[in-house]
Amino acid sequence: MAQIDDNYPTPTSISQKSTIALLVKPNPPSPSTNSTPIQSGILDVNLHLGYLGRHLLQGLPARYTSQDASQPWLLFWSLQSLSLLKVELDQGNKQKAAEAILAMQNTTEGGFGGGPGQAAHLLPTYAAVCTLAIVGAPDPSMPNSVSPWTRIDRRALYSLFLSLKQPDGSFRVSSNGEVDVRGVYCLLAVAKLLNLMTEKLVRGTKEWIKGCQTYEGGFASAALSIGEGEWAPLGEAHGGYTFCALAAWVLLELEYPSTSSGLQLNLKNLKRWLVHMQGGEDELYGFRGRTNKLVDGCYSWWIGGCFQLLDKLEGRQNVQEPDCIWNPEGLQEYILFAAQHPAGGLRDKPPKAPDMYHTLYNLAGLSAAQYTCQPANTTSSSAPNSSASSNSPTGSRTASENPSSSQTRVPTLNATDPLFNLTRTHVDAMMSWFREEHRQEF
Ligand code: FPP
Ligand code: ZN
Repeated sequence: MAQIDDNYPTPTSISQKSTIALLVKPNPPSPSTNSTPIQSGILDVNLHLGYLGRHLLQGLPARYTSQDASQPWLLFWSLQSLSLLKVELDQGNKQKAAEAILAMQNTTEGGFGGGPGQAAHLLPTYAAVCTLAIVGAPDPSMPNSVSPWTRIDRRALYSLFLSLKQPDGSFRVSSNGEVDVRGVYCLLAVAKLLNLMTEKLVRGTKEWIKGCQTYEGGFASAALSIGEGEWAPLGEAHGGYTFCALAAWVLLELEYPSTSSGLQLNLKNLKRWLVHMQGGEDELYGFRGRTNKLVDGCYSWWIGGCFQLLDKLEGRQNVQEPDCIWNPEGLQEYILFAAQHPAGGLRDKPPKAPDMYHTLYNLAGLSAAQYTCQPANTTSSSAPNSSASSNSPTGSRTASENPSSSQTRVPTLNATDPLFNLTRTHVDAMMSWFREEHRQEF
């Protein structure tokens, strides 16, 4: 939707205008021009693999020193990006990554810190466990080898979780740390993966999450109890918190379903807000994270992933194009034309530099866009309608291959499970291993 200009410039309207000026889609390349994949709106897989490989093998540039307390995240962002790009590490590198993560386990508190010797914290704990899901599965070619998964101290982790629990159903992110919905999501995702979910652990948590939903429909960072069943959301609705709240809600709902008359979110308001976070043609259909802010590639996942979560929550398997409430084909334009950096890696928006965080969350958003809202004539529910024979400039299918839509641009990525942002194979392997190895409850 075009912006209405009231000729009253403010810092917000000025940055919005200059952003729109930067978000230009190149004219369709003529057959005679030697355009790059990015100019043609194609995902340049090799370029991004080069970017990720350089960072993993040669080490990170100096500016990443500020992320010393995010070491499990850096590994997760890069290894999950590789998984989405269908690349698996060899066994030696998997072991190296697992050892690096296990060195960040806090042996006194339980859980994982942001680096070796750092305090346990729910956010790096999620990133550490997800990284171990990617690299730690038992190696079938070495039946006597011991999986790094055996070295996760679940008992200490569960005690840590209980120690962080607050009387209102929420959790602190660390001992004496703040309460917010990111921590609650990270705890629940880890509890699900490691078979640590108990009724005792999550009593009251759904009520607290519901309290975070704002009048806009999205979710704020936290909520304050202001009386019996009454909550005040703390702050404004934001895409990052909304993803965490909804994913946490769905994790709980799948484990302990509410009765139809029980506790419910306002899904109508949530959907309206999510849909309104998607920019129009002049913003290349990217997502913003909050009302009146700028579009940014990372919200491709934080908001785009919410639509997949809603499909899970509402039991939809094969949403078809006419019933689609958002524009996944449009989102691909933003990611492919604006978020891909010409030197590799993906970014917030031009002319910014790429980084590991934006690389993962753009790729995850692209995967979400490729796997939702299939054209009516597609039968597969698990694979996107990619076509190996497709080589049209945008990578879309040609009309004769797919008369109803040009839905998906090749190459397609692996699908990611919206509850964890891990591929299905990694989720299934970890969950079934921890179900079989650890039947006992604490
Ligand atoms: C605002 O940044 C960002 C926030 C208020 C929170 C972001 C939260 C997430 C991205 C979720 C993280 C999820 C996990 C699992 C840890 P800003 O003001 O720079 O950006 P904006 O203008 O786009 O709001
Ligand atoms: Zn961002």
